[in-house]
Amino acid sequence: MARVLILGNGGREHAISYKLFNEGHEIFMLGLNPGVAKFGTCIEICENQIAEFCKNNMIDLVFVGPEKYLVDGIVDKLENEGIRVFGPNKRAAILEGSKSFSKNLMKKYNIPTASYEVFEEFETAKEYLKNSNFPIVIKADGIAAGKGVIIAESYETSISDLEEIMINNKFNAAGKKVVIEEFLIGEEFSLMCFVSGNKVYPMKIAQDHKRAFDNDEGLNTGGMGAYLPIKHITEEDVKEAVDNIIIPTANAMILENREFKGVLFAGLMKTKDGIKTIEYNVRFGDPESEIILQSMTSSLYDIANDIIDGNEIDLRWNEESHVGVVLASKGYPEDYKNGYEILGLEKVKSQIFHMGTKDLNGKIVTNGGRVLIVCASAHTLEKAIEKAYKDIEKIECDNLYYRKDIGHLSLK
Ligand code: AMP
Ligand code: GLY
Repeated sequence: MARVLILGNGGREHAISYKLFNEGHEIFMLGLNPGVAKFGTCIEICENQIAEFCKNNMIDLVFVGPEKYLVDGIVDKLENEGIRVFGPNKRAAILEGSKSFSKNLMKKYNIPTASYEVFEEFETAKEYLKNSNFPIVIKADGIAAGKGVIIAESYETSISDLEEIMINNKFNAAGKKVVIEEFLIGEEFSLMCFVSGNKVYPMKIAQDHKRAFDNDEGLNTGGMGAYLPIKHITEEDVKEAVDNIIIPTANAMILENREFKGVLFAGLMKTKDGIKTIEYNVRFGDPESEIILQSMTSSLYDIANDIIDGNEIDLRWNEESHVGVVLASKGYPEDYKNGYEILGLEKVKSQIFHMGTKDLNGKIVTNGGRVLIVCASAHTLEKAIEKAYKDIEKIECDNLYYRKDIGHLSLK
């Protein structure tokens, strides 16, 4: 039994903790999560106290959930203190930390992606938009909690969006620089791979539902639900993505002296011209990991260690279909209120992961944009979906909403 510290306290980190706990490990989490508190120890310390905590508590492995820690260089800091940590270092995490870096890398190494330009001046970006076709996609260069992407339908809205990002600092410093890129049309899917240098191990693919409302209406969110398998993405599509995108990216990072170790996540679009990259993330997806880890039957702890050491990994899966439906605070991804009591969780048979909740004197209350994810598994996707939605009805809370169509694309 090992002692593992998980950084981050959302749904993804609850799922990672739960998997490691079920493998027999002792769980510590940096941050509070009422779901994890049932089987692990949640702690609140500052970032600069992590190394000391690890040493004092004989932590065998640190598992990093969110991108911010990685982009800020937590892996480098802990490794310098002799602590084992799973995730890419700062030089490699730039793949998610800067969209202009990743777009330029893709251009340099011929990795398929939407055509684009990078701008640091509002006026030049505005000039470029004057001569563009719409819709067009405007992205803040830095990380913005999955919300730094705007799809502008017309010249007029694109200018006000640009103003919001570059002048009114809607995404803070992340929007000092923007990438403006071609709008891709097609079917989106998420491919996560364990990567250690030039070794690439694809996981199962999953589909996230980015928009807030049914039928992909409303604003982009961090993700409103995920499922697998995806009927309309074939094995050949996945092979194309691995061969043309993931392997070349892993190799490009080595050539750039930025060797990648960890989970490389490619957000992909199957277009009429082949599979193209929408974005890279340098960690497990949220909510994808909540279902993918339920499908994984091999040891996540062993995989993390083998990736760190550059050994071959043992990656196995069950044959089930999985779905995860997110319950979000009304108003999310814009303003919302916290503190609404959630009842009925004990009646739910599916696996629940806490994304943004808080224990308030023994009551579970909402405490974030995405609040809970209800994950169900079954032999068929149809059954898994049925189970998840049946269970959601047992959850009582005055301020939650959810999409009713998670996974439905693959049922048609
Ligand atoms: P990202 O944070 O880069 O994944 O973008 C968030 C979401 O915006 C993606 O999951 C897509 O649904 C959408 N998106 C981003 N870039 C594009 C693009 N070039 N074309 C079409 N949709 C896009
Ligand atoms: N679900 C997309 C992400 O984790 O960024």
